[in-house]
Amino acid sequence: MSKKIAVITGASSGIGLLSTIELARAGFQVVGSMRDLGRREYLEKAAADAGVSGSVDVRRLDVTEFGTIAALVDGVVRDYGRIDVLLNNAGFAMAGFAEDLKLEEIRTQFETNFFGNVAMTQAVLPVMRQQKSGHVIMMSSIAGLCAPLAISSYAASKFALEGWSESLRLELNALGIKVVLVEPGSYETDIWSRNTRLGEKTLDGTSPNQERGARMKERVQSVKKRNPIEVARLVVRIAQNPNPKLRYVVGTDAKIQLALKRVLPWKQYEKVIAYFLKVD
Ligand SMILES: NC(=O)c1ccc[n+]([C@@H]2O[C@H](COP(=O)([O-])OP(=O)(O)OC[C@H]3O[C@@H](n4cnc5c(N)ncnc54)[C@H](OP(=O)(O)O)[C@@H]3O)[C@@H](O)[C@H]2O)c1
Repeated sequence: MSKKIAVITGASSGIGLLSTIELARAGFQVVGSMRDLGRREYLEKAAADAGVSGSVDVRRLDVTEFGTIAALVDGVVRDYGRIDVLLNNAGFAMAGFAEDLKLEEIRTQFETNFFGNVAMTQAVLPVMRQQKSGHVIMMSSIAGLCAPLAISSYAASKFALEGWSESLRLELNALGIKVVLVEPGSYETDIWSRNTRLGEKTLDGTSPNQERGARMKERVQSVKKRNPIEVARLVVRIAQNPNPKLRYVVGTDAKIQLALKRVLPWKQYEKVIAYFLKVD
């Protein structure tokens, strides 16, 4: 049987890069897309090191350049004939207190983390509909189920993705297309550094939350982050599963957070989070 075809967004680093490699190692032909081809060397080196260069095809895609998505999808179908797995992984975190973030900054967050995934999925669905099969895997976050403070717009974008995907799954079940949400806890990737954006008011010092923000940042940075290979291997298991669940929470921290939210009375839960993040 010929190889299954996977398309990944945000394959230039972190979970997207590792998922590209792990899927290729598992026998998939992977189109690893990235917005900046200047970063392709990281993926290409990882592919060469893993001995899977022939199974990794690097292409350019910025998921917020909505007009270019169709061409990427058409190109993949022209070259490989089908798309079995779409991993909507591209994302970043907009940090800053809700009071401080400008509407434009919140919109920017949604453009990538929500609308980018929606546009990409809508472009791939006709292909999967025709095949009567396919996996659409959304890289959500535990922040899509339990909203932490100071990344409200990130959490909101992931909550939106959760709602959209729940609905989409119900619509697509009968067509043989599987929609899956992956909800990682904290993993050591560039989302905590290069790909964290701060709101303008935080950067220019005009935020009234400057001091508590600094205290919280220190706490968040000291949190132990896990190895993202764990998430990439989960992606492979989901892609290979003919009957995946809707949700996969991954990471002990994420599982504990969700359990606390489900079990504790809300006010107790708030106290635990405030204590843990040192914000009062
Ligand atoms: N790491 C965690 O703790 C964690 C936890 C929960 C969920 N997640 C989710 O996992 C996904 C991957 O993040 P990561 O942790 O692997 O962080 P990362 O290393 O920063 O990777 C993010 C990827 O998304 C790409 N990207 C950002 N905006 C894009 C756009 N407009 N178009 C195309 N690509 C874009 C980045 O490209 P550039 O290289 O060009 O910046 C990069 O390849 C995200 O959706 C994130 O929300 C991460």
